[in-house]
Amino acid sequence: MSKQLEQVRELIQLREKARLGGGQRRIDAQHAKGKLTARERITMLLDEGSFEEFDMFVTHRSTNFGMQDNVIMGDGVVTGYGTIEGRLVYVFAQDFTVFGGSLSETMALKITKIMEQAMKVGAPLIGINDSGGARIQEGVNALAGYGDIFQKNILASGVIPQISALFGPCAGGAVYSPALTDFTVMMKGSSYMFLTGPKVVKTVTGEDVTQEDLGGAQVHASKSGVAHFAVESEEDGIELLRDLLSYLPQNNMEEPPHIECSDPIDRLEDSLNEIIPDSPNKPYNMYDIIHNIVDYGKFLEVHKDYATNIITGFARFNGTSVGIVANQPRVLAGVLDINSSRKAARFVRFCDAFNIPIITLVDVPGFLPGTQQEYGGVILHGAKLLYAYGEATVPKITVILRKAYGGAYIVMGSKHLGGDLNYAWPSAEIAVMGPSGAIEVLYGKELANVEDPALFVAEKEKEYRDNFANPYNAARYGYIDDVIEPRNTRFRIIRALQLLSNKKQSLPPKKHDNLPL
Ligand code: HXC
Repeated sequence: MSKQLEQVRELIQLREKARLGGGQRRIDAQHAKGKLTARERITMLLDEGSFEEFDMFVTHRSTNFGMQDNVIMGDGVVTGYGTIEGRLVYVFAQDFTVFGGSLSETMALKITKIMEQAMKVGAPLIGINDSGGARIQEGVNALAGYGDIFQKNILASGVIPQISALFGPCAGGAVYSPALTDFTVMMKGSSYMFLTGPKVVKTVTGEDVTQEDLGGAQVHASKSGVAHFAVESEEDGIELLRDLLSYLPQNNMEEPPHIECSDPIDRLEDSLNEIIPDSPNKPYNMYDIIHNIVDYGKFLEVHKDYATNIITGFARFNGTSVGIVANQPRVLAGVLDINSSRKAARFVRFCDAFNIPIITLVDVPGFLPGTQQEYGGVILHGAKLLYAYGEATVPKITVILRKAYGGAYIVMGSKHLGGDLNYAWPSAEIAVMGPSGAIEVLYGKELANVEDPALFVAEKEKEYRDNFANPYNAARYGYIDDVIEPRNTRFRIIRALQLLSNKKQSLPPKKHDNLPL
């Protein structure tokens, strides 16, 4: 055998060894937990045969605790690039079979290397996390590695889409990398995120809590909002990552991909002409409207179980990606509060950063009153949403379906915050507040002296409704560009998107804004 052929054989053997990570025993242990290995996850995520791996030969440099005798090629993370539906993506997947996927100095170098490349070439980054945290044997070098990753996350924010999938543990300061990225997917039952685990919680606060109740997928997807998606299996999670990317551009300088669409643009949905109940206090389901108007009824909801009084997610109109923000009258009457404001603000800012037009469907009775909200800073959180809409320069199309009261009318993509096309259904009610509140304020003193207060209130409410419970007052001032037939909403939105496809708007130069935090 020639020397060169021998060298090639050695390379092949080395690669095979590296691909085994922490060895067959640990791979079996990973499978026994119902988890896939890092390489299996990447293979499933990317187009077949498209993965190119980097830094397979990297090993750690630690000599603490006998680590010099325990060296594994790749050092606990698989990194590289490939394609999803033919589009370039960078990916890293922590390998739990190697030192529990714990983060070392060299693992951090591997991860930051592909983050830099992803930024250079303008491609999304997907990180699959499954790690015991900072590699204990490396001390401050592991912490430094985390710091370097966070810094790169920050620089990449708003430049390339960054998505984190958590298919295992993620504890301590390690949680801040997913938190800095645009979207976090968690798997029910096998992933958890917390700054301090149950044992420390017990010591410090005396509270007894399980890992799942402290930082499981369901907790973060519904209570804290840290996770945008909670999935049932790794396969579902990976399918979701592929789907999510299909709505996003490669970077902030590009447009989202346009998908060929055979769903008729002028499809009339007669049911929408009768969807709003006669009684203003009766709810209907906003999902029915969303599914009726978007291409093929397909809607990828973000934060589905968190702050459900507002709905956020991606859809397409005639093949164009949009972000949809919609009040949900079925939950708390669609009121805005702290959590729904934060949720929608983050979503609007993401869409704006990545050139995705925003469609806002409004049915909002106002902001939730009360001490709980005021003490929690609803003023600041509501201001975030106001700010997000006001600074967004992407096409903004708003349709008021029913209530648009008070500050919430302004916040929800109004003309006054730069709405490009503002439509209303004939059922829209645009006013400073709802009728009963208004009558109380206007006639509170008089009410005490009238003979029949109930009749008086009914008459005044009718007068108020006749004046304000319609879109025409706002339309008279041009705050509404047109009052549209509900069944024609899809077509009007598509026309508006076509009209606005070349919209150019820039903000005054500044170092950065000072969003109320
Ligand atoms: C080094 C680690 C490790 C770590 C796990 N391993 N975590 N090695 N540093 N942080 C190793 C184990 O020694 C073991 O090696 C292998 O990985 C698998 O771990 P097991 O414990 O056998 O697995 P399992 O029972 O599934 O438990 C997983 C685990 C547990 C819950 C993650 O390993 C664990 O509690 N690890 C420590 C977690 C932690 O407290 N990390 C620090 C968080 S703070 P062998 O050779 O036996 O296979 C932090 C600060 C970050 O990360 C700050 C950033 C700013």
